[in-house]
Amino acid sequence: MSSQLGEHLRAVEEELRRWRSEGECTVHVLESSMELVRAAVRDSTAVEKKPTSASFPSEPSPPTPSSPAPPSAPALKELPSPPEIELPEGDRASKMEWLRDRVLDCPTCQANLNPQGKVVFGVGNPDADLFFCGEAPGADEETKGEPFVGKAGALLDKIISGMGLQREQTYIANVMNWRPQHDNPYGNRPPTQDEMNFCLPYLKAQITLVQPKVIVALGGTAVSGLLGHDPNRRMGDVRGNWAEFEKVPLMITFHPSYVLRNGSDKIKRMVWEDMLQVMEKIELPISDRQRGFFT
Ligand code: URA
Repeated sequence: MSSQLGEHLRAVEEELRRWRSEGECTVHVLESSMELVRAAVRDSTAVEKKPTSASFPSEPSPPTPSSPAPPSAPALKELPSPPEIELPEGDRASKMEWLRDRVLDCPTCQANLNPQGKVVFGVGNPDADLFFCGEAPGADEETKGEPFVGKAGALLDKIISGMGLQREQTYIANVMNWRPQHDNPYGNRPPTQDEMNFCLPYLKAQITLVQPKVIVALGGTAVSGLLGHDPNRRMGDVRGNWAEFEKVPLMITFHPSYVLRNGSDKIKRMVWEDMLQVMEKIELPISDRQRGFFT
């Protein structure tokens, strides 16, 4: 298979894996699209099989199912042990400022940044009852240095306002403080478990300071970052369930990017039902109109 086609298929594979981590269980592909893929694969293998008089050194063989394609990440830098955080004395605001400076200056975070990218620390109300946790900054977030400021962030803002709150009343953070590097010209690479384990103490310290009544984990990668990897965990099974992180109730829901991609009222309703559970837990008033969203 041509290396270009292989690269594109790997990008598709990676994106599908990402969708699955966000909660997608089924993908519908038009027969006409499948036919295009089949034809592209047929053409590229036919070209490769044609005997050539002057042959070039062959490409390394494509990965087989037993040697899966490596993620299209540049050779990942080895990460040191996760940082140990000892918060200084002081009030909540000054501790948060200390932590923010510590994260923004973290040499490992800095070393893993994309060119022009910024380290991203949480934002919002340090006294918030509600703590949203996503996975990692994307392109918009690493440019601005703030979590959830792109399209997924715009949807998260709508969800928050549907709950009768403003973004500034909540606290929003990611498991990761940098955008994972990758070689594809577009899209995002989900962080590895090692990367998330490295950043976890920074997230834990933010949770310790905020002391929220509820954490909402947005998508499967955030769940793996918070609760650890479990190969048997499926978003379709755990979404809408309560778990616990550091004794704080943790609601698991779909990632806003998945909701945007899926676009159906059914998925919006599922996320909304999760948010209704959260509103009940933190004792927010719920109107009949709010109860009925997306029904
Ligand atoms: N997706 C995330 O998980 N976090 C962000 O900050 C943006 C998009």
